[in-house]
Amino acid sequence: MAIICVVGTGYVGLVTGTCFADMGNKVTCVDIIPEKIERLKQGILPIYEPGLEEMVERNVGAGRLHFTTSYSEGLENSDFIFIAVNTPTGSSQGGADMRYVESAARGIAQELDHYAIIINKSTVPVGSGDVVTRIIRKNLKRPEVRFAVVSNPEFLREGSAVLDFQYPDRIVLGSTDQEAAGKVATLYLPLRAPMVITDLYTAEMIKYASNAFLATKISFINEIAQICERLGADVKEVAAGMGYDKRIGRSFLDAGLGYGGSCFPKDVRALAHMADEAGLHPQMLRAVMDINHDQRRLVVTKLTSILGSLRGCEIGILGLAFKPNTDDMREAASIDIIRWVTNQGATVRVYDPVATDTGREALEREGVSTESLIFCENAYEVARGADALVVVTEWNEFKSLDMYQVRGAMRNPVLIDGRNIYEVAEMARLGFIYRGIGRGTGPAPSVLPSGDSTSMQPLLSTLESAQ
Ligand code: UDX
Ligand code: UDX
Repeated sequence: MAIICVVGTGYVGLVTGTCFADMGNKVTCVDIIPEKIERLKQGILPIYEPGLEEMVERNVGAGRLHFTTSYSEGLENSDFIFIAVNTPTGSSQGGADMRYVESAARGIAQELDHYAIIINKSTVPVGSGDVVTRIIRKNLKRPEVRFAVVSNPEFLREGSAVLDFQYPDRIVLGSTDQEAAGKVATLYLPLRAPMVITDLYTAEMIKYASNAFLATKISFINEIAQICERLGADVKEVAAGMGYDKRIGRSFLDAGLGYGGSCFPKDVRALAHMADEAGLHPQMLRAVMDINHDQRRLVVTKLTSILGSLRGCEIGILGLAFKPNTDDMREAASIDIIRWVTNQGATVRVYDPVATDTGREALEREGVSTESLIFCENAYEVARGADALVVVTEWNEFKSLDMYQVRGAMRNPVLIDGRNIYEVAEMARLGFIYRGIGRGTGPAPSVLPSGDSTSMQPLLSTLESAQ
C-alpha cells in the first residue's frame, strides 16, 4: 500500500487518484479551487465519467480517498505525488501553457519535507520534466530534501477513463532516475499491463506522438470521406474493409465532424509548435489540423445546399458534448455549428442527454447567442417542426430513435448525419433527404451488420444454396 497525492481534480487527476485508491492505496487529491473540493467532499463530481461517482463514494467511505485544497495536507507522508493539472493551448502559435504545471510544482516544493517521487501525468511538452525539476529545486522549502521526477503520461479517453485506467494497453514511464521509474512501476503492477520504461523526453514524446497519430487517422479518414462522396463510395464500408488489416486497425477510422475535446486539438497544436520551434516544418500535422478545422463546416455547406438560405429555418441539433458519454464541451463541434447556423438567421433546437448545462455555459462563454436556441428534453422534441436535423454527437440513444416518428414531426425531412450513425438505404426508404459524411449512394452493406440480417436475406440465401 502506497501513500499517494494527486494534484488536479479534472478527469485525469480524479480518475487517477480514485483508481489508485481502489487498488488499496491511500490517496489525497489536491485542487486549488475550494468549491471543487467542497463539492467533492459532498460526493458531487466536477465531471461526468461513467462509473466514477460510485468508485469515489466507495473509496471515500473506505477511508482510502481524501480531498483537500492544502498541499501540506496532501503531501503529508506521500511517497508519490502526481501532477495532473491542465496544459491548455497557450501562445497563439499553439504552444502548451505550462503555468499550471509550474504552479503545481511550486506548491509541491514549498511543502515537501521528505523524499518523494514527483510524477508528471499531465500532457506536457518534451523537456518539461527538466522544467519541473528546476522549479522544485529552486523553490524547495528545505533545500536538503531529495526528490525524483518521472514522466507518466495518461492515455485516458473521456467517457471511458475508468476502464482505460484499469485496462491500459501499456504504462509509459520516463526518468533520468531509473530506480524512481521502477518504484512508480510497482504502483501499476496489479494492472498486469506492458510497461515501457525509458527516459523523460521519450516518455513525453510517446504521449504527443500517440495523440497526434490518432488525430491523423481521423483526418485521414475524413479526407477519404470527401473523396468517397465525390466518387460514390461509402466511407463506412471503406473503413470496415481497411480495418481488417491488422497493420491499419479499425479504430479511429470513423469519418464525421472531426475531433474536439481537451486533448487532440491542443496536443497536435503543441507538437506542431515544438517542431516549429526546432526549426522544422510539420507539414503532416498542419494538414491534420487544417482538415479537422474544415470538417465541421460541412454541416453548413450541406444545409445551405439543400435549404438555400437558413434565415427563418428551424435547425435541430442532436448532441452538444465533443463526444458521447461525457459532458465535456471543450472544442466541441456543436459550438461552431450552432454559431454559424444562428449567425445565418436560423433558430436552433438542441438536445444532449448529459451536456445541456455544460453546453449552455460553453456556448455563452464562447459568445454564441442563446437567444435563438431552444433546449429540448429529447430528440423527438428537437425534430418537431424542424427544417433539418443534424447529428453532431453520436449518443447511443440517437441510434435507436423511431425515425418514422422523427420524419413525421419535421417540417422538412432533411437529415445531416454528422457521425454516420444511420444507414443510407434505410433513411431513403423513410423519405429523408439524407446526407452523411462520405456515404456515397452505395448498395446495402456488404459485411453482415451485427445482429440484423433482414436486409441481407438475398445474400444469405445465395450463401446457403452454395453450400
Ligand atoms: C488535463 C489536460 O487536459 C490533459 O491533457 C492532461 O493530460 C491532464 O490534465 P483535465 O483533467 O481535463 O486534463 O484537466 P482539467 O479538467 O482542466 O482539470 C485540471 C484541474 O487542475 C482543475 O481542477 C484545476 O483547478 C486544477 N489545478 C490547476 C490545480 O489544482 N492546481 C493548479 O496549479 C492548476
Ligand atoms: C483522447 C485519446 O484517445 C486519449 O488516449 C488521450 O489520453 C486523450 O485524448 P479523448 O479526447 O477523451 O481521448 O476522446 P477520443 O475518444 O479519443 O475522441 C477524441 C475526438 O476524436 C472526439 O471528438 C471524437 O468525436 C473524435 N473521433 C474519435 C472521431 O472523429 N473519429 C474517430 O474514429 C474517433
